[in-house]
Amino acid sequence: MAYQWLSSILLLALGVSGCSGIILQNIADLTKLKLSFDFIIVGGGTAGNVIANRLSECPDHSVLVLEAGGSDDNVLNIQMPFFAPRATPGTPQDWNYTTTPQTALNGRSLPYPRGFVLGGSSSVNYMVYTRGSKEDFDRFSKVSGDSGWSWDKLVPYMQKNERFVGASDHHNINGQYNPAVHGFSGINSVSLAGFPSPIDSRVIQATTQLKEFPFNLDMNSGSTLGMGWGQSTIKNGTRSSSSTSYLAPEFLSRPNLHVLLNARVTRILKTSTGAFQTVEFVQDLNGAFHPHEVVLSAGSVGTPNILMHSGIGNPSKLTSLGIKPLVNLPSVGQNLSDHTLLFLSYFVNSTDTWETWERSPTLTQQLLNQWSTSRTGQFVDLPLNHLGFFRIPTLVNQFKDPASGPGTSHYELIVSNGLLGPPPPTGNFMSVSCAVVAPTARGSVTLSSSNVLADPVINPNLLGSPADVFIMREAIKSSMRFASAPAFAGYVLSPNGLNFNSTDAEIDAFVRANAGTVFHPAGTASMSPKGATWGVVDPDLRVKGVSGLRIVDLSVAPFIPAAHTQAATYIIAERAADLIKSIWGENDLQVVLKTQYIYTEVGKH
Ligand SMILES: Cc1cc2nc3c(=O)[nH]c(=O)nc-3n(C[C@H](O)[C@H](O)[C@H](O)COP(=O)(O)OP(=O)(O)OC[C@H]3O[C@@H](n4cnc5c(N)ncnc54)[C@H](O)[C@@H]3O)c2cc1C
Ligand SMILES: *[C@@H]1O[C@H](CO)[C@@H](O)[C@H](O)[C@H]1NC(C)=O
Ligand SMILES: *[C@@H]1O[C@H](CO)[C@@H](O)[C@H](O)[C@H]1NC(C)=O
Ligand SMILES: *[C@@H]1O[C@H](CO)[C@@H](O)[C@H](O)[C@H]1NC(C)=O
Ligand SMILES: *[C@@H]1O[C@H](CO)[C@@H](O)[C@H](O)[C@H]1NC(C)=O
Ligand SMILES: *[C@@H]1O[C@H](CO)[C@@H](O)[C@H](O)[C@H]1NC(C)=O
Repeated sequence: MAYQWLSSILLLALGVSGCSGIILQNIADLTKLKLSFDFIIVGGGTAGNVIANRLSECPDHSVLVLEAGGSDDNVLNIQMPFFAPRATPGTPQDWNYTTTPQTALNGRSLPYPRGFVLGGSSSVNYMVYTRGSKEDFDRFSKVSGDSGWSWDKLVPYMQKNERFVGASDHHNINGQYNPAVHGFSGINSVSLAGFPSPIDSRVIQATTQLKEFPFNLDMNSGSTLGMGWGQSTIKNGTRSSSSTSYLAPEFLSRPNLHVLLNARVTRILKTSTGAFQTVEFVQDLNGAFHPHEVVLSAGSVGTPNILMHSGIGNPSKLTSLGIKPLVNLPSVGQNLSDHTLLFLSYFVNSTDTWETWERSPTLTQQLLNQWSTSRTGQFVDLPLNHLGFFRIPTLVNQFKDPASGPGTSHYELIVSNGLLGPPPPTGNFMSVSCAVVAPTARGSVTLSSSNVLADPVINPNLLGSPADVFIMREAIKSSMRFASAPAFAGYVLSPNGLNFNSTDAEIDAFVRANAGTVFHPAGTASMSPKGATWGVVDPDLRVKGVSGLRIVDLSVAPFIPAAHTQAATYIIAERAADLIKSIWGENDLQVVLKTQYIYTEVGKH
């Protein structure tokens, strides 16, 4: 992508224009509107679009979203749930990052996809919707010293996010979820699987046969332990992202909400008042804006990257790269946490698995046509119907319990009616894949140079601790016990790549050669108590020691929840919107507007 660094002067006129909110492709279109903005949100991703929606509920708040990527409209692999794994990596909707060589994974570098598109990672993720455990959020509250981050206080925000809509095929969902714990009038649609899988009944049967894998009616109840029906951000067989939901046409018609695509923010500049309130970005033309609050929602990779280029981070490291340190916050980019994933599949005695149609272009086309015309069939779902979260009782004999509490899991099992990834020429499979959801290893996002357009250095340090290796090994043994339940007798034949009697050494070698990530980076701009010597933001998500700048995305999570992370991101953002609104009441705003809107000079480098 080529950016031109041209010089220009941009006039930001005071006053709210009468024209309606809109998604724009070009800075020239935006300047023609002669608008001013009270809030600029950097990153129209999962969290960013929540903030944009909620702040623009107030007609006096004018809001601009700057999104580096393009539109999510009409991208089949984004809209059609089953093809979500094809939406990244290496597509026009991906940032195309790769990790550093991972020491615990035979030195392999892994693709590290992040959504480069409106909706961010919510437009390209696999749509699993799991809030995490009550204890996960209560730990946020404990670590930050703000009870507002506890589960009980966040329940209203969970409900503001969620619009539970049943299943795409309208099947009877009684007994597959607990209506009492859901939100039915929120913004982001959530549903149960809309296409039955031939292994569904065996999975449910196994939960009644093996005490180790109890049935969990609803993992979004705060209590995640057990195996149950997956819930996902899908409506009528189509992805629900922060773009399709929080930026739906009914919201985009607000005159005070604007979105500029293809606008990549490079730095947040310090203004004469000392605040960090000028947003520098590049497009065909470069520009700068000076709102009264900047909200960084660029995600766990993008946010620390922008902070460090802006001089906010570890002073000696910034100096060594030739970046002038302005704010001493060594935690920026540190404490990166992620979940390690291993695809584990089993040969099965059946041809009724995905492989059969995946190997047939004719059958694939039929399913695609079916989805396109009626939103029915296999493609309405993501590639899994069941998942479960579990603990390893013996872990505490060797390690300090890394989970947020005794009711929170160490690992996850994900059940699929086929192999994840391209199918081999022969064989039919069931997967019971494994993820470490209580990792103790921490990685980092750092800079390699002062070039604002260079990729940051991403080291998630997957399985970088003995406890994490132990959890993965035990998760694999657990997967094999599950696949050996009587319900799978005569169906599951043998593990693919391992065998039921593999030794620990064989399992560990298999993991080093095959493990990857669930793409859940968190914690690179962590919240910590006000006045703490570590952390990046206060519990109200304002950057420590800086005025005018807030962070709202998954990077502020002080610990990674033991769950897929989009729900936590939405929940954090919903509360953050209220925190911002509580500061900038309508009256305050008028005063600030009068004093802060002036010419902004851009393009000086
Ligand atoms: C392939 C994949 C699969 C996943 N599967 C699941 C799943 O099934 N379930 C689940 O719960 N979670 C899943 N996740 C994780 C989940 O999607 C993320 O945790 C969550 O979306 C993070 O939200 P965020 O707001 O922090 O960041 P994002 O949603 O990534 O938003 C960041 C936004 O900022 C933009 N941006 C970044 N830098 C700049 C810049 N310099 N200037 C302007 N804009 C910028 C980006 O383009 C992006 O739009 C998955 C993630 C991926 C990548
Ligand atoms: C990622 O790679 C794809 C395919 O080459 C490309 O279209 C896209 O622009 C790249 N993303 C970025 C952020 O450069
Ligand atoms: C990492 O997080 C822990 C809390 O989990 C904190 O004590 C520590 O100081 C953090 N480290 C950095 C470098 O921020
Ligand atoms: C679901 O999508 C199909 C196909 O686009 C459409 O015909 C149908 O009206 C939609 N149903 C609902 C309830 O929106
Ligand atoms: C495969 O299933 C058939 C019944 O569908 C059964 O007769 C046969 O024994 C099974 N094969 C194995 C190896 O279990
Ligand atoms: C695995 O071990 C069990 C007993 O622990 C034995 O019954 C079985 O035959 C062994 N299977 C293989 C494939 O070695």
